[in-house]
Amino acid sequence: MQTTGDAVSGTAAPTRPASTDSWWRSGLLYQIYVRSFADSDGDGVGDLRGILGRLDYLAWLGIDGIWLSPVTPSPNADWGYDVADYCAIDPQYGTLADLDELVTAANSRGMHVLIDLVPNHTSDQHSWFVESRSSRDAQRRDFYVWVDPKPDGSPPNNWVGCFGGPAWTLDPATGQYYLHNFLPEQPDLNWWCEDVRTAFDDIVRFWWDRGVAGFRIDVCNMIVKDARLRDNPPATQDDPFIMQMFGQRPEYTSNRPEVHAVLKHWRRLADEYDPPRVLLGETNVEALETLASFYGDGTDELSLAFNFPFLESPFEAGPLRDIVEKTEELLPAGSWPVWTGSNHDVSRLATRWAAGEPRKARLALLMLLTLRGTPVLYQGDEIGLTDVELAHEEILDPVGLRFWPAYQGRDPQRTPMPWTAEAHGGFTSPGSTPWLRGGDPTRCNVGDQRDDPESVLRFVREAVSLRRRCPDLTSGDYRSLLSPSGSWAWRRGPSTVVALNLSDDPIEMTFPSPPGHIALSTHGARDGGGLGVGIALQPWEGVVVALDE
Ligand code: NOJ
Repeated sequence: MQTTGDAVSGTAAPTRPASTDSWWRSGLLYQIYVRSFADSDGDGVGDLRGILGRLDYLAWLGIDGIWLSPVTPSPNADWGYDVADYCAIDPQYGTLADLDELVTAANSRGMHVLIDLVPNHTSDQHSWFVESRSSRDAQRRDFYVWVDPKPDGSPPNNWVGCFGGPAWTLDPATGQYYLHNFLPEQPDLNWWCEDVRTAFDDIVRFWWDRGVAGFRIDVCNMIVKDARLRDNPPATQDDPFIMQMFGQRPEYTSNRPEVHAVLKHWRRLADEYDPPRVLLGETNVEALETLASFYGDGTDELSLAFNFPFLESPFEAGPLRDIVEKTEELLPAGSWPVWTGSNHDVSRLATRWAAGEPRKARLALLMLLTLRGTPVLYQGDEIGLTDVELAHEEILDPVGLRFWPAYQGRDPQRTPMPWTAEAHGGFTSPGSTPWLRGGDPTRCNVGDQRDDPESVLRFVREAVSLRRRCPDLTSGDYRSLLSPSGSWAWRRGPSTVVALNLSDDPIEMTFPSPPGHIALSTHGARDGGGLGVGIALQPWEGVVVALDE
């Protein structure tokens, strides 16, 4: 394909096809925020048995793997990301037997289960921390980062936490500060301590031995900090907004060179299993060069690393194409990209990228499903679910509470999944109160969209099914094609082209030779389907074109 008046050649060299065919390369992942997915016992909180009850839906949609947000016991200072026991299930979510049953039931439907691993910090209620803080001579004192105050009583260095405020809290009983890059209730583990590393070997094996297919690893780029605890340098005007907001560059708290040895070690353990277990890293980094480094040599570190520059990009052709091309260029041979537009920490793609317009949500979803790499959908993406506006008194996220009203926090994207148009969207029983208020389920829900051939859900299912049938889409190389401003087109493998119009105007593209036919359009069936020399894309329309051989 070429576009009006442009040369035939693409703008970037083709990338290599996948070297091996692990299930997660061709597969589609789906993030389940467990508290808000499906409540089986009417306590208003989603649970493992609720997920069990929805596995057939996920299989119908064409999901290959689910990632569960933390289900381990937690006092919920940060909604599960403050772990009190790494090898158990919080009773609110069920039991270990439920988890085992979920893994078996998912496997029998051809799906895999990944869970969240939170190695940077524990809860302050974890027995390790309780013991560690009990005295300076405690056996596990070294599991955490304990440091004397400066002579004036102030914290040992200038580090600020990711949720604002100093990253240090003084423990009056023992007179030392402990490090926490998130809430004071989330003390950072000391990854310079060999016993911490050994403890985590046991933890990862505990889950992998029971059939868990892998981990999404929380803030995996931050777990090892500077051994000398040097001050972070001040941010400058040229630094990204977030660094300017915190007043410093996280030079000594993030992306330390020593973190790679930990990830490489886990990869060696993961590769001992059959099939090898998956390491999906939360790599919230600014630079794509840094992102690429977390893949190691392409085979020896993370299997998949979340691409935050892509996630945080405006929904515009130029910036998205630049990020994808650069990612394709930088990732080491053998590695595999991952594309996502939503998660439990950021505003949903249907709000942030699509401004609530279903046609734009369809386009964003088509993009995720047709780039070279593994797409990760967040629960609700498939129905174009938008964020829910909440009042101050409804906010439960500690970050929202801290920064309100400048920032509402993360609850708007964590609201319960609307399954039907009935009370509470069928998330919990009608007489119960969901832990977090949901939006109006009559406006957007799974049941209604399943019955509506024009819905976002039915479009996503069709796109997933096309992806499964078309080897170009699962494993073909990526090559950008020249296209008019406001649009973005690329070729996958020898015979598939994807063209997106990310603008409010119709765009003409020409397809000289070989012509093809439209395999899928975000705008529904098209007359005839066959293409002559070109195609007029409607505003915010995306198409997949199968080229004639
Ligand atoms: C990233 C998680 O996604 C987020 O929800 C959490 O608050 C922080 N890490 C701390 O664990």
